Amino acid sequence: MKVSYTSLVTATILFICGCKAGAPNKAESAAVSEIKHEVTIGGKDVKNPIAFTPGALTEGQEHFGHHCQICHGLDGQNTGVPFAGKMDPPVANLSSKDVQDYTDGQLKWIIENGIAPSGMPGWKGILDDGEMWNIVHYLRHLPAKGSLGIPELYKEEAEEHEHMHDEAAHEHNNAKPHGHKH
Ligand code: HEC
Repeated sequence: MKVSYTSLVTATILFICGCKAGAPNKAESAAVSEIKHEVTIGGKDVKNPIAFTPGALTEGQEHFGHHCQICHGLDGQNTGVPFAGKMDPPVANLSSKDVQDYTDGQLKWIIENGIAPSGMPGWKGILDDGEMWNIVHYLRHLPAKGSLGIPELYKEEAEEHEHMHDEAAHEHNNAKPHGHKH
C-alpha cells in the first residue's frame, strides 16, 4: 500500500513538473516515442503472413512508389521531398532506428490506420491487406538513401537546378584548355 501511494505521489509531482516545462525536451520526446511503440500503435504481435520473396519486395516497392513517395520519397528517406522537414511533425525517415524498431505488425497497423493527428494518412479501404504487408517488406529492405533519385512530381523543379549546374560545368570545361583563368 505504502509503495503504491509513494509512486502515486511521485507520478503526480512528475506530472505537475511536466506541465510546467515548455517545449518537449529529449527525455520527453523519448517518452512519447516509447508510448507510441508500447501503447498507441497496435498490431505488435501480428506476424507478416506473406513470405519474403523478391516478388513480394518488388510489389511492395511499387505500391510504395504509388502511395507513399509523395511524402516519403522513393527510398523512404524523404529524398527530394521539399516539404518533408516542414511538416509538423516532420515526415519520418523510414530507415531510422525509431521506425525500424516497430514490429512488422505495428508497421502494417501504421499503414492501415495512419498516425492521427499528424500528416500520416491511413490506407484502410485503399490498400488491401496483402498490399500493406508487401509494403512492410519494402520498409524492411529500403535502398540506400538517394539511390532511386527523386519523385517524378518534384523533378521539374530539380531539373531546372541541374540545368543551371550543367551550364556552369560546361563553361568550366570550356575554360580548361585555356588554362586556369579565374
Ligand atoms: C501526406 C504525407 C504522407 C503520406 C502520403 C504517407 N506518409 Fe507516412 N508519414 C507522414 C508523416 C508526416 C509522418 C510522421 C508522423 C509522426 O511522426 O507522427 C509519417 C510517418 C510514417 C511512419 C513512421 C511512424 C512513426 O511512428 O514514426 C511510417 C512507417 C510511415 N509513415 C509509412 C508510410 C507508408 C508505408 C505510406 C504509404 C502507404 C505513407 N507513410 C504515406 C506523412 C505521410
